[in-house]
Amino acid sequence: MAPANADQVTCWNGPTGERWAREQAAIDRAFAALTARLLAFAALKPGEHVLDVGCGCGVTTLAAVDAVGPTGAVLGIDVSAPMLARARDRSAGRPNIAYVEGDASTRVFEATCEVVLSRLGVMFFRDPVAAFANLRTALGPGGRVAFLCWRPAADNEWVRLPYDAAAQHLPAEPAAAPDEPGPFAFGDRARVEGILAGAGFTSVAVTPLDAEIVLSEEGLDAAVQFVMTVGPTSHLFRESTDDATARARRALQAALRPRLRGERLTLAGATWLVRAQTNS
Ligand SMILES: C[S@@+](CC[C@H](N)C(=O)[O-])C[C@H]1O[C@@H](n2cnc3c(N)ncnc32)[C@H](O)[C@@H]1O
Repeated sequence: MAPANADQVTCWNGPTGERWAREQAAIDRAFAALTARLLAFAALKPGEHVLDVGCGCGVTTLAAVDAVGPTGAVLGIDVSAPMLARARDRSAGRPNIAYVEGDASTRVFEATCEVVLSRLGVMFFRDPVAAFANLRTALGPGGRVAFLCWRPAADNEWVRLPYDAAAQHLPAEPAAAPDEPGPFAFGDRARVEGILAGAGFTSVAVTPLDAEIVLSEEGLDAAVQFVMTVGPTSHLFRESTDDATARARRALQAALRPRLRGERLTLAGATWLVRAQTNS
């Protein structure tokens, strides 16, 4: 039998994970407003122990360790070797950060954490109920989970606007089933509530958070490059010819140009902030 989430392990260790590692600074800037709101929402306290799920290049791991201070600790877990390499680099000299390469849905945890945290890292599990039941084992009594995930792609202007422009010139991808693991798998609020309740969490609260996504602070071309590199629009370019790429790039420029303010270009992002508790 293939290991759980083998396709995601392959994906995040291939060109996708390598791009995320290479573009870490641009991605962190793009999602900075989300990171700040997630950290405020998680309300980490000095001395707490945190598990950062799908920690990627470590932006939330580093922010969490600042929040829990020298008496706390943060463990980042991810399946992506290239992203973890970036995270480890950035975390050098921080003794209360540790990283582990592994599948968060099956990893054996000790119940030592007060908080399971994630920025955009929990929507990729093939069996999300089993995965969250496993994450619950990392929490001691009264522990909590606090994470951020995307609302549907259609509600996310930063995805929809560039995707629609580029898709005029490139073959669109077959639409994924709503429950298929992927960035928008947690778009449906009732599904998220059901997953957490099914995994044994209580006091589940799912709150919308709208925030600006910063595509560029260096003008139009950098914004076009960003959406061609990261996120659903970038997937359209995987098999494209030079000709089609050039046409799609011009379409992206035309679609994004009206949104440029000086050198800065932002579009709207739509997410859920999710919190739940464990009693056991
Ligand atoms: C969209 S990225 C988000 C990364 C990071 N949290 C951020 O906000 O920049 C999703 C992350 O989840 C990780 N991931 C996917 N499936 C996973 C699993 N089963 N266990 C651990 N990490 C996983 C990927 O490797 C990737 O780093």
